[in-house]
Amino acid sequence: MPLDKKQLFTALKSDIENILSSQQTSEEYLNKVCILLQNRVPYYDWVGFYFGQIETQKLYLKAFAGMPTEHVQISFGQGICGQVAVSNQNFVVPDVQAQDNYIACSLDVKSEIVVPLFKNGQNIGQIDIDSHIKNPFSDEDIVFLEWLNKKIAETLT
Ligand code: SME
Repeated sequence: MPLDKKQLFTALKSDIENILSSQQTSEEYLNKVCILLQNRVPYYDWVGFYFGQIETQKLYLKAFAGMPTEHVQISFGQGICGQVAVSNQNFVVPDVQAQDNYIACSLDVKSEIVVPLFKNGQNIGQIDIDSHIKNPFSDEDIVFLEWLNKKIAETLT
């Protein structure tokens, strides 16, 4: 049976609301969200949150699920993540091999999506998702991930 994204994302939204409404640190709930998404969405093979610092012009990995990455810091402008830190736009990459400015984490990664996270209108971070299959991301993923980042921004103090 083909994956019913609508049903899956609807179910995940209520799980995410439960995670975000419980008392815990931002590291704890961001890690739980990463684990949930990586476990439940079959083509989300690596899920992480980076947050930026204006002073250093760098992104720092704050939470993730999947294989550990050496890219725990990424300069603004570098790779897909670094480009989103300056563009403030979603970046969907159906095929990473077609990208010039791309930082490879693993040879298994075929596609990637990065959605910025805004707090009070400022781009403060992003969710980054890698997939081992080509071109899996659709508008449904974008709408879901924008919803998620909005919820997280409301929870972050
Ligand atoms: N591929 C990303 C680097 C981060 S890893 O995917 C975890 C990029 O090009 O920015």
